[in-house]
Amino acid sequence: MKKLHKTTSVLVAGVAAALFATGAQAFDEAAAKDLMKQNKCTQCHGMDKDKDGPSFKKIAGKFKGKADSESKLLTHLTTAPKVKLSDGSEEEHKIVKTSPAKDEAQVKNMIQYILSL
Ligand code: HEC
Repeated sequence: MKKLHKTTSVLVAGVAAALFATGAQAFDEAAAKDLMKQNKCTQCHGMDKDKDGPSFKKIAGKFKGKADSESKLLTHLTTAPKVKLSDGSEEEHKIVKTSPAKDEAQVKNMIQYILSL
């Protein structure tokens, strides 16, 4: 015989939403995550876990607060520089695809998000 227990998580969801709403951000996090998803960036970069490439948190730590970090990362993400994967092999880094094509604003928005991590 089974007893059914019904619990409600409405309260928890409410608190989470309130916390989320307090963070003032100059970038569109949802759009940034979308672009990452479409480009499969997380195949090689975990949010806070290294994979074939360093985690986005680690990348943020490396570039945060540097004056030219945005333009450096923009170049990185639009010119396919050679990078070394964690297994030592080399390949050209993925160029971010946007729709419409080459929309710098979308790439910059994603860079802002990465730097915020
Ligand atoms: C095939 C695996 C792979 C994919 C897919 C990939 N990356 Fe990378 N990424 C790397 C590697 C490897 C590095 C270089 C690490 C190093 O040299 O320190 C790197 C470096 C970076 C850096 C840091 C550059 C620097 O100068 O330190 C950023 C930012 C970055 N990737 C963002 C992205 C974004 C955004 C996407 C999705 C559009 C993406 N990556 C897709 C493997 C990948």
